[in-house]
Amino acid sequence: MKAATALLFASVLILAAGGAFAQSSESGERTFNQQCKTCHTVEKDGKSPVGPNLFGVIGRKAATAAGYEFSDAMKKSGITWDEASLADYLKDPKAKVPDGKMAFVGLKRPPQVADVIAYLKKVAQ
Ligand code: HEC
Repeated sequence: MKAATALLFASVLILAAGGAFAQSSESGERTFNQQCKTCHTVEKDGKSPVGPNLFGVIGRKAATAAGYEFSDAMKKSGITWDEASLADYLKDPKAKVPDGKMAFVGLKRPPQVADVIAYLKKVAQ
């Protein structure tokens, strides 16, 4: 009986976590549309209107998106984008890549950063 209760409890937790993830990528999409979309697209082979296309950016080396002229600072940054480096960059782009050319002040609320990263992950699946 005890084991069954534990199992039930575990599946409730998993369901709750799944729901939270869905919610955060949705709010990340809103934030992206409001704060990033003027400069970035996320579709596969999307355009690079002002900033580089961000499809599949997580796991990619910085400044390697095709068809975009990055700043020297970004080219020399040596960053490979993962959740931690992206979080740092999105919080304060000029601190993470001084002399980079992303004219964006940064996302000031930590949940917004996590949600946008969740959204970037989701659209690349
Ligand atoms: C005013 C235009 C602008 C806005 C707004 C903007 N960016 Fe950028 N972004 C750029 C530019 C320009 C670069 C290229 C930076 C460089 O070469 O130094 C860039 C680079 C990036 C990179 C590095 C890409 C790579 O392939 O190395 C990521 C990731 C990124 N932006 C994410 C975002 C996200 C997420 C937002 C919204 C929270 C955002 N940006 C808002 C213009 C913008």
